[in-house]
Amino acid sequence: MVELTRCIRFCLNAQSGQDSGKYNTFSAWPAMQGLGRYYELSVTCQGEPDPQTGYFLNIKEIDTAVREHVLPYLLTRIGDQTNTSAIAMGHLMQEIITRLQLPLDQSVIRVQLALTPFYKLQIRSSNMSEVVLRQQYDFAAAHRLHVAKLSDEQNQQIFGKCNNPSGHGHNYQFEVAVRCPLDAKGHINTVAVIDEVVDRVILVPLDHKHLNEDVPVFKNLNPSVENIAKVIYDWLVGPMKEMNLNLQVVSVWETNKTRCTYPAGVLS
Ligand code: NI
Repeated sequence: MVELTRCIRFCLNAQSGQDSGKYNTFSAWPAMQGLGRYYELSVTCQGEPDPQTGYFLNIKEIDTAVREHVLPYLLTRIGDQTNTSAIAMGHLMQEIITRLQLPLDQSVIRVQLALTPFYKLQIRSSNMSEVVLRQQYDFAAAHRLHVAKLSDEQNQQIFGKCNNPSGHGHNYQFEVAVRCPLDAKGHINTVAVIDEVVDRVILVPLDHKHLNEDVPVFKNLNPSVENIAKVIYDWLVGPMKEMNLNLQVVSVWETNKTRCTYPAGVLS
């Protein structure tokens, strides 16, 4: 079995039905008109590839299913609404995945809607009573990778430039994934609730700080990206629980090329 994921980029405009032509689907189609809305929908299907073609599913079928069965629905939800903030997003995610199952032969296991580049909602066919909310944050901090028990030579050998005695900086980015059960009306937690907790518990103590010098937990704990991911998770899980938020996983990007996720093996 394989999992095949296709990302469909589109804009919802009040006049979506009057597009003059389909020229390029890379940036988005329908294309932006005036002050439209841009979204990305990633659809993951599971199945067995055909031994002859190597295809499990033609990606054109996923594109077509989304454009024919999801886009018109989304347009009706936001088209003439004056208060889109009142839309029950849990119910909307249920609708999206349900509408795709029939045209895609019940193969859809996961759907993710990116409402901004940094805010995503995901629903799984295996548990449609909850939505996984992902939001990204960033902070700037200095650190030095150094283990006091090791010699200067050993530290230099292991950590290289990261062992610089004066430290160095990163613009860290991190993402939290929170399980949000749907309430009776299909609503989920708003991301502002999560922002408040993250700001208070993580960003205030870490942003624009020297991790080794200013953050007590890193006095005797090397501030590697692995340990930073674990500390962020450990700090967040309790306060989030107090707000009825179920934190599942934290990913930290030290650079665009290096990411650590904790705990492992949760919510791919
Ligand atoms: Ni570093």
